[in-house]
Amino acid sequence: MCGIVGAVAQRDVAEILLEGLRRLEYRGYDSAGIAIINPEQQINRLRRLGKVQELGNALKETPLTGGTGISHTRWATHGEPSERNAHPHQSADIVVVHNGIIENHELLRNQLRDQGYNFSSDTDTEVMAHLVAELRKQTSSLLEAVQQAVKQLHGAYGAAFIDRTQPDSLVVARSGSPLVIGYGIGENFVGSDPLALLPVTRKFAYLEEGDVAEISRHEVKIFDQNAHPVERKIHESDLSYDASDKGEYRHYMLKEIHEQPRAVTDTMEGRVTQDGVAAEAFGPEAAKLLPGIKSVQIVACGTSYNSGMVARNWIERYAGIPCRVEIASEFRYRHTLVPEDCLFITISQSGETADTLAALRKAKEQGYAASLAICNVAGSSLVRESDLTFMTRAGAEIGVASTKAFTTQLTGLLMLTAVLARNNPQAEDALQKRFADGLHQLPALLKQCLALDSEILKLSQAFADKHHALFLGRGSQHAIAMEGALKLKEISYIHAEAYAAGELKHGPLALIDENMPVVVVAPNNDLLEKLKSNMEEVRARGGQLFVFADEAAGIKPEQGIQVLNVPHMDHLLAPIAYTLPLQLLSYHVAVLKGTDVDQPRNLAKSVTVE
Ligand code: AGP
Repeated sequence: MCGIVGAVAQRDVAEILLEGLRRLEYRGYDSAGIAIINPEQQINRLRRLGKVQELGNALKETPLTGGTGISHTRWATHGEPSERNAHPHQSADIVVVHNGIIENHELLRNQLRDQGYNFSSDTDTEVMAHLVAELRKQTSSLLEAVQQAVKQLHGAYGAAFIDRTQPDSLVVARSGSPLVIGYGIGENFVGSDPLALLPVTRKFAYLEEGDVAEISRHEVKIFDQNAHPVERKIHESDLSYDASDKGEYRHYMLKEIHEQPRAVTDTMEGRVTQDGVAAEAFGPEAAKLLPGIKSVQIVACGTSYNSGMVARNWIERYAGIPCRVEIASEFRYRHTLVPEDCLFITISQSGETADTLAALRKAKEQGYAASLAICNVAGSSLVRESDLTFMTRAGAEIGVASTKAFTTQLTGLLMLTAVLARNNPQAEDALQKRFADGLHQLPALLKQCLALDSEILKLSQAFADKHHALFLGRGSQHAIAMEGALKLKEISYIHAEAYAAGELKHGPLALIDENMPVVVVAPNNDLLEKLKSNMEEVRARGGQLFVFADEAAGIKPEQGIQVLNVPHMDHLLAPIAYTLPLQLLSYHVAVLKGTDVDQPRNLAKSVTVE
């Protein structure tokens, strides 16, 4: 998704703005641009289609000087990826960069055309530049013009403006798209993600919905949606400056796959004792709120949705309460009913996914018993707007493909199941100890799974020339098959689908031939024999099976079956552990195919538009 960086400093800010964009590259984009007010009080603007590197090369040829500027990476929504559609957009003295979508852009465009403004791009953003330029004629400052302009904008935006006539400040506005202010010493910054600003500051304040702020070198003035001055809490970030470095790894995704034992350990740190899981891991109010919960509604997107699908199996089986899971983009527009004493859970790596956030806001209006966010980004919108929070401690995830975010979400959801299961009168006696023991064994188990890498690399060669793949699982492993298929399709561009294995004969069996690799997730659980029958259905039709199987499952390699033996484990842990071999499989297939592993085409890390 789009990225914003802005700076007001005494020094030249071009390199700060460019480095900020490099750090946002992982979010996905198609073009980049920068605008700076130079010491002669002129605006210089450079835009390039393609990578930030192209913009960097252009800046080497045409260096921009000046201490006030804004920069942007664009992920096209309105108008094709091109230089003329790249941000910043300019109208006379006003320049803007924008994340999000202006829904009433057609109406505003027509009004502004009637007032004599010419449009040079196909974007919704350009209306913001002309609108503020028009309002600036009637107001005494850029701040006032932006405050007037946002009253006319419908949709989602995080935007930063500069004004040639006010070279010592920039103005930013937030509604639906995150913006964070970075506080330096004698210089201040803005970004759509704190990662962009880590080289220059660790002190951040997140803007709230409707905020407009004026940022100058020595002062940040924030106003709420009613234009009243407000303070927003300044946090000291513990994100590591190096978190976005690849280290010894060829790709961020591979680095992040290997970080999972550590990430899961960190996620449990201080929250899981020998006796069980501390309810306070879910927030100070959790011990009071969770015992009264009689059902659960989970809402999320993509990989985070898949973790919810695993949790449904755990919660219904061990906590003994109904659990529903729904994709956020459907939930937000569907006529939904609120069960009594229902806990509404959102799951999100970024905490800024537009559909998930909208679903949470709808749920709050509908009156669920409480909301819980399972999230990886402190201070994100989901975290701020939920009653309870569980922070996964995965650390910054740079690869677009979610890996350590997913397994830490699952760890949190397993911990939540343990807490909810305390109120289940039917729960087996030793269940709490089983959860605690299992969670403690998890990091070592994940290391064992990572050690299977060279065998997985060999298996991956059979996929590189394929156009389609099927993934099968049953029970909670159906959700892991879904995650395996999502990983393969998003980074290798191989069309991959997941099915609950029992569904095969209801349609997908027609696809099976020798060109259809079929990946099976086969832990040693009560559904194993059923799964073996489904595998026979594939084998009998010439399908090529790649079975990720518990070493105690008794599945042997033979004609048409390749087997990867996964260590024997309590099947409670299997959804988390089996994810790693599937991630490695996708990774190696993508590398063999030569795709852009960390920034797959058309995708964005944080989907802040619906
Ligand atoms: C998965 O690899 C993707 N990155 C994507 O499906 C992602 O999980 C989805 O966009 C939701 O993002 P979130 O967890 O930040 O809400």
